[in-house]
Amino acid sequence: MCGIVGYIGKQEAYPILIRGLQRLEYRGYDSAGIALIHNENLNVYKAKGKVADLVRFAEQQDIHGTIGIAHTRWATHGEPNQVNAHPHYSQSEELALIHNGIIENYAVLKEGLKEQGYTFNSDTDTEVLIQLIEFVKKSNKVDLTKAVQLALNQVVGAYAIAVIEKDQPDTIVAARKGSPLVVGIGEDEFFLASDATPIVEFTNQVVYVGEEEIVTLRRGQELKIRTISDVEKTPEIKKLEMTLTQLEKGGYPHFMIKEIFEQPKTLSDSMRGRVNIEENNITLSGFIDNKEKFLNAKRIIITACGTSWHAGLIGKYAIEEFARIPVEVEYSSEFRYRKPVINKDDIVIPISQSGETADTLAAVELAKSKGAFIFGICNVVGASIPRNTDSGCYTHAGPEIGVASTKAFTAQVTVLTMLALMIGKEKGTLSEEQYLRTVHELGQIPDKIKIILEQNEAIAQFAKTFTYAQNFIYLGRGYNFPVALEGALKLKEISYIHAEGYPAAEMKHGPIALISQEMPVVVIATSAGMYDKVVSNIQEIKARKGKIISVITEGDVVVKNLSDYTISIPDTEECLVPLLAAIPLQLMAYHIAVVKGCDVDQPRNLAKSVTVE
Ligand code: G6P
Repeated sequence: MCGIVGYIGKQEAYPILIRGLQRLEYRGYDSAGIALIHNENLNVYKAKGKVADLVRFAEQQDIHGTIGIAHTRWATHGEPNQVNAHPHYSQSEELALIHNGIIENYAVLKEGLKEQGYTFNSDTDTEVLIQLIEFVKKSNKVDLTKAVQLALNQVVGAYAIAVIEKDQPDTIVAARKGSPLVVGIGEDEFFLASDATPIVEFTNQVVYVGEEEIVTLRRGQELKIRTISDVEKTPEIKKLEMTLTQLEKGGYPHFMIKEIFEQPKTLSDSMRGRVNIEENNITLSGFIDNKEKFLNAKRIIITACGTSWHAGLIGKYAIEEFARIPVEVEYSSEFRYRKPVINKDDIVIPISQSGETADTLAAVELAKSKGAFIFGICNVVGASIPRNTDSGCYTHAGPEIGVASTKAFTAQVTVLTMLALMIGKEKGTLSEEQYLRTVHELGQIPDKIKIILEQNEAIAQFAKTFTYAQNFIYLGRGYNFPVALEGALKLKEISYIHAEGYPAAEMKHGPIALISQEMPVVVIATSAGMYDKVVSNIQEIKARKGKIISVITEGDVVVKNLSDYTISIPDTEECLVPLLAAIPLQLMAYHIAVVKGCDVDQPRNLAKSVTVE
């Protein structure tokens, strides 16, 4: 939700900031803006829409300057228009601020500022914050860092902010609480961003700004960090593992299709050093380091949002099957507020691609406060959630840029499956024979995905048939039920076609009323996993003239003959079918959205990283 970027150094800031915004555009694309200091002027340029709209406007103006901040917005307070776009000026236009997050007590602060004679142009909470900083600065006669600190002490909410001051062209002040912020350290230059993607092409030395910390970036000086409660901190410099090529489309028309096609590699990366194919063995260091905790756990609670929640459901099936530990899968947004029972011997597993989702982060805090052991499954290294957990496991899917999650999902399922197998083996609740067979099969999954990807063209062809549809139903049972949910989510996210995932047998309790010859029904009917039952469910759809698109196991002619379209996937163990069945559904959603002319990588109203609740 909103991306922020900043630069101070020897280079022209504008191209660095614009490229940074383009990298962060996945976080929101309602409006974009930039502030630069040049020739003693603080110039602010803003545009409704995407970064490209900002570029068209800004390039008519003075875009010089070696210091600047920039923002791409996902609207919370105030509609997405030019006035509400960031940066926001203070009343005197001496300060400019960008913000990612929500200032919850903005209304009270705004009233107080109005009484002091401040006026407001926008509907945003952000403008209140910059006015407050100016008011505090002027009334206390302090420098910008101190003013930011004093102002933030009055603020309730979440933020990552950066502020610049017209008369201080050598300083950027930034701070965070609840929203992410990374500083890149170059030679006599600093970069600032919501994540490392705008920074990686310039330096691999970064500092992840901590909760309630304020950083002061001064030209030619060392990075300074103080907390909001005024404690000085020593910057901890970390090395980035990310590479630039991971952030580019590499010849594909969209990031989403690139990321779908990357899955054979990303799953190998997820398993690298963990699955030993020769010896049919799994070593997950996060598990080994905390083996006793897992073996003694009375219950596991998985907490996540969106696609990560779907991965969590598959994890539940695998952990309960192999490790015989009860697992609850919670929407983080519900879990954090509904006074859940959390015990000291519970293990809480937050799953998050970004590692920044506000609700999941809050769920982690809650579980921690109740003494549970927190084991994170995240993709982005160094993000807030992994930094707040006791232990965990990275998914190693590499940067995922397409807003609709694909490779991160299959990597999450892979890690959860490895975890379930390890606990089961160590607990003795899983037979040696099944363990060996499943680990062997897991090692084959990347090659089997390659076989499915060969059907891309065929899927693109039949996808054209379905652009007329207003609604879709996705059905699956057992491990394939969460796959149905995920397939439906992919379609609605990017093609704006309404789609619902259902357990196939539940269809009779409602959705069957929707079935007619216009209604496409996607059925995951693989031979591993209640095949006969699903075949009966297909018969029920057929009897009502629904259009059947089935995902079947290679060689199955029964379901093929009942279906209008089929996509076949190689056979595998039942618990691994989701890793294969998800692929054709991702491809189908992608191609339907492309034919409909939708913006696949940046679907309307969505953002990849939801850092507001
Ligand atoms: C947003 C994204 C989804 C993602 C969800 C959870 O809604 O658009 O793709 O699944 O957030 O994000 P996380 O980073 O926590 O996995």
